[in-house]
Amino acid sequence: MADIVFFCTSCGHESGKWLGQCPGCGEWNSFAEQPSAPRKRKTAAARPRRGARAVPVTEAAATPIERLETGLDGLDRVLGGGLVPGSLLLLAGEPGIGKSTLLLQVAAALARRGGPVVYVTGEESADQIALRAKRIDGLHPQLLLLPETSCEAVLAQLEAIEPTLVVVDSVQTAVLDEVEAVAGSVSQVRQVASRFQHLAKTRGVPVVLVGHVTKDGMIAGPKLLEHLVDVVMSLEGEPGHDLRALRAGKNRFGTVAELALYSMTGRGLEPVQNASAWLLEDRRSGASGSAVAVALEGTVPLLVEVQALAAPSALGTPRRVAQGLDSSRLALLLAVLERHAGVGFGDRDVFVNLVGGLSLREPALDLAVAAALISSAADLPLASELAVFGEIGLLGEVRAVSRAAERVREAAALGFGRVAVPSRDANGKLGLPATPISTVADLPMLLQRSGEPEGR
Ligand code: TYD
Ligand code: MG
Repeated sequence: MADIVFFCTSCGHESGKWLGQCPGCGEWNSFAEQPSAPRKRKTAAARPRRGARAVPVTEAAATPIERLETGLDGLDRVLGGGLVPGSLLLLAGEPGIGKSTLLLQVAAALARRGGPVVYVTGEESADQIALRAKRIDGLHPQLLLLPETSCEAVLAQLEAIEPTLVVVDSVQTAVLDEVEAVAGSVSQVRQVASRFQHLAKTRGVPVVLVGHVTKDGMIAGPKLLEHLVDVVMSLEGEPGHDLRALRAGKNRFGTVAELALYSMTGRGLEPVQNASAWLLEDRRSGASGSAVAVALEGTVPLLVEVQALAAPSALGTPRRVAQGLDSSRLALLLAVLERHAGVGFGDRDVFVNLVGGLSLREPALDLAVAAALISSAADLPLASELAVFGEIGLLGEVRAVSRAAERVREAAALGFGRVAVPSRDANGKLGLPATPISTVADLPMLLQRSGEPEGR
């Protein structure tokens, strides 16, 4: 009993007894019983380095960070300019979302540019990967497939190769023989990752680990590795939609706000060139319950349609369903509208959807969500040429958001003729006529009553 401890399979929190909810990450039912990791054998990476010299920051700043461009549109931007040699990266995402496809595309692109790229595959056979490579037009002799789950064997193979990139697909299938735990367990995932970190640092090669995120929590989640790796990227998407969003949740070499959009096609992931136009493609103008929001993810403004449906409820407790938006934010907006705009939703089911399968958390979407809700409740449309952004506070006030002029420029570029914005933003020089909104009580004036000309 002495060496049996319980681990959170999501974040690695240790406990002497089983817990229903992890105090570390708040995950439920994530505790599993496991033998603890061997403590005696320390990896080389864990040993303190001798001979490190204190350097003046000015000197350190003079050496620019070298970056290896992947050539894949969007990914380089998310990374802050490309892969940094010697860094350890994690690509997280649910199974089937396209992680292997994305990395195989990157691997093939770098192989084409000369350096050998090693793609370690513990989940699929070399044949399966080759089939995928063929599909994405990624057949190249410098792309080396290594179907191996033993971490020691992989590291031994890599001694003889000078790779420009190493991909490990996935970290949860790799095992170190010296660690007495099953693949995917907390101790294995941790130790395997630290071995690859050592490889990255000593050989100056970028190493990308693939990490599955699963809802059942039975295998150790990528959260466990967040502190260890330099960059955490996640690939997200809704089942049934082609749209995939790539973003960095942590980046030691760049910002974390950038978003890259791809569409999953028959030939792999293709960057979505004009994301706003793509997202608004199927929009029906003149329908009630629809508002176009201007979000800003990183440096890229993004127009996206918010759809709301408020319908009489047959249930005692009406339903609140948010897709692509935070559901607690929706609950807050409904309460604010009830109190400060006099629009009640107490007896209605409310559904709100961000069209296209994208998930966004930006507060600047608030105003568009509120406008769509009011439009649906009144069954009156907003002007089809109108784009909306602004953050809503608990008192119903509409607050200014960052980079208003850039948002308006994107709206104008897509043919929108007017914006409804926070009053403070409306004072600035915007490129389009702007309706200032100071509280949610102003929102009903955006509704188009029949017979009225558009665009008031
Ligand atoms: P995959 O990269 O295997 O996902 P992950 O590694 O995250 O589990 O991609 C899985 C899905 O992508 C699968 O359903 C097939 C689809 N797909 C395409 O639609 N087009 C393609 O060119 C490829 C390679 C995959
Ligand atoms: Mg895969």
